[in-house]
Amino acid sequence: MSEERTPIVLTIDPSESFVETPAIKKIVDRSLSYLTAGFPIHFSGPTGTGKTTLAMHVSHKLNQAIMLMFGDEEFGTSSLVGDKLGYRKRKLIDNFIHSVLKTEEDVSQRWVDNRLTTACKYGLTLIYDEFNRSRPEANNALLSVLEEGILTLPVSEEEEGYIKVHPNFKAIFTSNPEEYAGVHKTQDALLDRMVTIHLDYFDEETERAIVVAKTGISVQEAKKIIGILRDFRQANGVSRPVTIRPAILIGKVMKQQNIPVSANPVFIDICVDALASGRNHNDEAKKAVEIVIDLVQKHCPSPSQMVRNSWGRFVSKFSNQSKGGEI
Ligand SMILES: Nc1ncnc2c1ncn2[C@@H]1O[C@H](COP(=O)(O)OP(=O)(O)O)[C@@H](O)[C@H]1O
Ligand SMILES: [Mg+2]
Repeated sequence: MSEERTPIVLTIDPSESFVETPAIKKIVDRSLSYLTAGFPIHFSGPTGTGKTTLAMHVSHKLNQAIMLMFGDEEFGTSSLVGDKLGYRKRKLIDNFIHSVLKTEEDVSQRWVDNRLTTACKYGLTLIYDEFNRSRPEANNALLSVLEEGILTLPVSEEEEGYIKVHPNFKAIFTSNPEEYAGVHKTQDALLDRMVTIHLDYFDEETERAIVVAKTGISVQEAKKIIGILRDFRQANGVSRPVTIRPAILIGKVMKQQNIPVSANPVFIDICVDALASGRNHNDEAKKAVEIVIDLVQKHCPSPSQMVRNSWGRFVSKFSNQSKGGEI
């Protein structure tokens, strides 16, 4: 028998630091139009491209409670749908007849809903983050939910074995590329039932705006940090994806410690830790450190490294007249 309980749901307040540049607004608007037309959406793309943040933002705009789930290798169907949780004993003691104490035991099976069932039943917005970390067979229950609006529950002797999905139910999925460790290939049948929006690294303007919004540093300082980040991303020999996260880290520490974003030793150390560290191969790590030091000098030139350009403005002599070195 099904156990009624209050679902644990999430309400999300609008994030003040959410950046909505024209590029992001376009994606938000498109996502909302698919969702309100009844289609599930799926943000796919490399790590650090804003998938989870967007999913939260879009779901907030839908104005209904949210159920959040994270993909997990250990998931089975019951992790999504629910399971029998032992037995419940109910004792009835009849005290009306004082001399006879009547005791009745009623034993019934307890069914405890899991998150997908709760979201389908109550019409919540389901965010299934990194859903391709779960094994494909664990996600099979989603096929009929998305296609027929029916959630099939594992065999139950007494009950119907399925529930009809509430009309307000909405679903937002995110996934990382298949080449990432711990990620499974999603079955085509599931992908075919959702609208996939591919996300890539943000444009420069958006990256800068995100760093300003999340750290409180100035636009000028963010411009230097993002310049270093983007050049590092493009540098030869940098094999690991370079996301926006190190730039947020650098900005936060600089702001908190009140250290200027300039070619000073502390800033260089922080850039090296954030960008170049944690590499497996010694040669790659050494090369990454050299690249970072060069890039700090390029984007934060000291006065001795400045030359006048043809318009009489001071630019870094490392910048090769590029916009990045101008102050
Ligand atoms: N639109 C945005 N506004 C503000 N910060 C953002 C935005 N998009 C992403 N971020 C920030 O960038 C970082 C990476 O975003 P996240 O959503 O975690 O990426 P993903 O889920 O693709 O790995 C996080 O620190 C997040 O707060
Ligand atoms: Mg994420």
